[in-house]
Amino acid sequence: MPENRSSAAPAVLRLPQYTKADQEEILGNGDDPFGVASTGLTWLPKEEHFGIRHEGRLVAHTGLLRLPVSIGGTKTEVVGVGGVAVAPGMQGQGLARLVVTAALEHARTMGPQHALLFCRPPLVPLYQRLGWHPLDKDVIVEQPAGRLVTMPLPTMVTPLRNGARWPSGPVRLFSLPM
Ligand SMILES: CC(C)(COP(=O)(O)OP(=O)(O)OC[C@H]1O[C@@H](n2cnc3c(N)ncnc32)[C@H](O)[C@@H]1OP(=O)(O)O)[C@@H](O)C(=O)NCCC(=O)NCCS
Repeated sequence: MPENRSSAAPAVLRLPQYTKADQEEILGNGDDPFGVASTGLTWLPKEEHFGIRHEGRLVAHTGLLRLPVSIGGTKTEVVGVGGVAVAPGMQGQGLARLVVTAALEHARTMGPQHALLFCRPPLVPLYQRLGWHPLDKDVIVEQPAGRLVTMPLPTMVTPLRNGARWPSGPVRLFSLPM
């Protein structure tokens, strides 16, 4: 029935690629679509991409990649989550929940025990609503030319395995942030 189809949750697709044009299709071509330009940070592109299309147009995205980190002096990996975006006209309808949830389902197959993201302070409650926890610790990240900086944005983490607990101790990313 058409009524059933229209009330079904939109499908989340694995995207073979995610270009600047794809991002602009979602968020437009403003200077600072994620509101983080003031940090002056250089960010990594993501490697795996998930999206939602609506009437042929890309309207939501989440990206993932594995990142080497050290937590409490032990080297390991996390799944970095970034580029979370929903088209302005489609926000507030649960699309971020859908696309982030689908990306995390995939992240559970990637190996690391935890996923990690950085977000602006006003988005902390949104990610908490999606099951993420703020990491109450400084996180050191790399910048070009090997410069190390303390991430000025909140860090959020979520377990990818039942019972996984974030280890104690200082956190350092051996890469640019994502
Ligand atoms: C941030 C962004 C992705 C959110 O997308 P969205 O589709 O509007 O989010 P959703 O509707 O899926 O909301 C997710 C959940 O957070 C909740 N939520 C939203 N704002 C909230 C807030 N201020 N406090 C608490 N919960 C909030 C929603 O109610 C929803 O929970 P529910 O599914 O249990 O009802 C979107 O606003 C965006 O693209 N912004 C510009 C780009 C950006 O800043 N990206 C973030 C990069 S980290």
